[in-house]
Amino acid sequence: NTNAKGLSHGKIILMGEHAVVYGEPSIALPFPAVEVAVTIAPAEDATIIDCSYYSGIAAEMPEILQSLQTAINTALKSLNKENTPLAIQISSTIPPERGMGSSAAVSVAVTRAIYNYFNEELDYDRLLELVDVSEKVAHGNPSGLDAVTTSGDSPVFFRKGHPFVPFDLRLDGYLIVGDTGITGQTKAAVGSIAARLKTEKKVQTEKEIRLLGDLAEQAKQYLETNQPERLGTVMSQAHNLLAELGVSSDELNHLVGAAKQAGALGAKLTGGGRGGCMIALAASEQEAQTISQALQDAGAVKTWITYLNQAVTV
Ligand code: MEV
Repeated sequence: NTNAKGLSHGKIILMGEHAVVYGEPSIALPFPAVEVAVTIAPAEDATIIDCSYYSGIAAEMPEILQSLQTAINTALKSLNKENTPLAIQISSTIPPERGMGSSAAVSVAVTRAIYNYFNEELDYDRLLELVDVSEKVAHGNPSGLDAVTTSGDSPVFFRKGHPFVPFDLRLDGYLIVGDTGITGQTKAAVGSIAARLKTEKKVQTEKEIRLLGDLAEQAKQYLETNQPERLGTVMSQAHNLLAELGVSSDELNHLVGAAKQAGALGAKLTGGGRGGCMIALAASEQEAQTISQALQDAGAVKTWITYLNQAVTV
């Protein structure tokens, strides 16, 4: 297929980021408001890339694009097509390094486009396995949650190493996403918790990780039984634990505080943290608009609003 395409979208982690790396449950949603589209056409001599960061020969990409390079090489190698030159064009509306899964989403879309180009079937488990290789480069120790939610169509309850469980969201609530505009550092944040587990804070850290898992379990129950207020409470508790674990930032804390002051039922960072995005829960659309405005006034560079009952279908 000489005009092949591959698509994916952003993701929002509702609960369980970081703890999911250690086997705790998590809940995440596809976030189709931001997306990636990759097209592939034949090239003459060498594989070339055209994306917002770089245009040129794939083999000469800067270090920062190492995970993209790995995604391309992994997909090509799995098909024994390493020597086929391709022209790969990537366009993405997912802000990079903001906890919205941009690295996984780019890998998903590139892998799908490469398989499409060679008219090869790509089953879902295979896709996740291939994306995991480049996610290891991006994050060090990925749980696999980002790959599942940037490629899939439904909210998931996810535990590392277990089959994920898709579920329908029935919550009468609105999620507001606020971007601090500051690049997060997922790899460093994941590494910092691993390092903390090697200090005298080991026992406390393990406890905090388990508590985050418990809160994710509770959140699932509240989502299934339509209890937005209780969900908001556990979201705020999760934020405090993530802050104690050292993966929040002043900007994230500031936006979380502003959302709560503007009436949010709860608010927390989402994704890797140390920058990137936060989320807040509102009971009505009007309250969501008020919170969104308050976040912008408090310095958010961009905000989005999603009705949680509609996040089911993409
Ligand atoms: C990053 O989006 C989510 C983390 O939990 C890392 C991971 O699950 O691989 C921080």
